[in-house]
Amino acid sequence: MNIVETKLLTDCAADLIEAAQLLQSGQVVGIPTETVYGLAADARNEQAVRQIFAAKGRPADNPLIVHIAQLCQLETVAKTVPALAQKLADHFWPGPLTMILPKQTAIPDVTSGGLDTVGIRMPAHPVARALILLSGTPLAAPSANRSGYPSPTTAEHVMRDMEGKIAAVLDGGKCDVGVESTVIAFENDDTVRILRPGYVTKQMLESYAKTVILDPAILHGVEQGQIVRSPGMKYQHYAPRANVTLVEGTQIAFENFVRQHARPGVFALVFDEAGRIPGVPCLTYGNSGSEQAQQIFARLRDLDDLGAAHVYVHAPSREGVGLAVYNRLIRAAGFEVIQI
Ligand code: TXA
Ligand code: MG
Repeated sequence: MNIVETKLLTDCAADLIEAAQLLQSGQVVGIPTETVYGLAADARNEQAVRQIFAAKGRPADNPLIVHIAQLCQLETVAKTVPALAQKLADHFWPGPLTMILPKQTAIPDVTSGGLDTVGIRMPAHPVARALILLSGTPLAAPSANRSGYPSPTTAEHVMRDMEGKIAAVLDGGKCDVGVESTVIAFENDDTVRILRPGYVTKQMLESYAKTVILDPAILHGVEQGQIVRSPGMKYQHYAPRANVTLVEGTQIAFENFVRQHARPGVFALVFDEAGRIPGVPCLTYGNSGSEQAQQIFARLRDLDDLGAAHVYVHAPSREGVGLAVYNRLIRAAGFEVIQI
């Protein structure tokens, strides 16, 4: 891959225009969204989209999400829009919900990883929306991390992973949500299946869809050779360099467990309300599900910066948005979970 100078842009009008021009000319730009930063390119330009895969080191069969800014763009990306999808779009867009729908021919196979469906989302972040409108095209954007590494929630994270590989990163501040969008597929007229949990929970979707199924792969690994509904489920994800073990149990049980496993290089990731654990360096990641979602990826990156070799993470609740945090953590841990 050619080494390029990666420009750091701000969210001032002149920089937004520059970013939009780069996107129009087939370049890749790191952009803020309300969930995580995305690595954006013109979703209809095969060459541009190939550069996203190259910069991330992403397997070609793992499809990208296409981002739109207005409902009238939906039909340029999706071939058909079932009534339930329309209803969910009305309620949850702009916002952290991605819907998998039949793909329009304008979206090339590279973007959809060879599938005849496409994941579509209308982000809520004003910078993302402005860039889609200014560039005049739907933007394909996976999370802007190196493939397999924790997703970026600041422009600095993107710079660290992508400097020299993409044209620019636009700094729009810290991401509000902190974990990627909820990804859903439609099973029939009134049933949706959650393929990836996010800020939009099963309970929220149940207000609009009669049946909402949580795909079993959310909490369990996928066996080799098993058919997966979303290619992303097959791959190692969100993992820092440190080994991660997820530990489920009470505060006291967790502290005792970690103290017994103290040795050089061992760190703990605990809730804000936890006390210090003598002999073990600790980082905290909030108390509520939404605080944990906001902080989890940044903390995993911090642990690498601190040179952690092994991290014991106190497992979050699986209620509400907590399920999304839990899902990212069991993957970061390669499904190594200890119940105490
Ligand atoms: O919040 C988000 O969704 C962020 C921001 C940038 O919008 N994007 C993001 O993209 O997380 P990515 O590529 O890191 O994750 C997309 C996930 C992958 O697991 C992929 O396999 C799945 O969605 N996906 C995309 N299109 C799909 C399709 N047509 N069928 C099944 N799964 C699909
Ligand atoms: Mg990702």
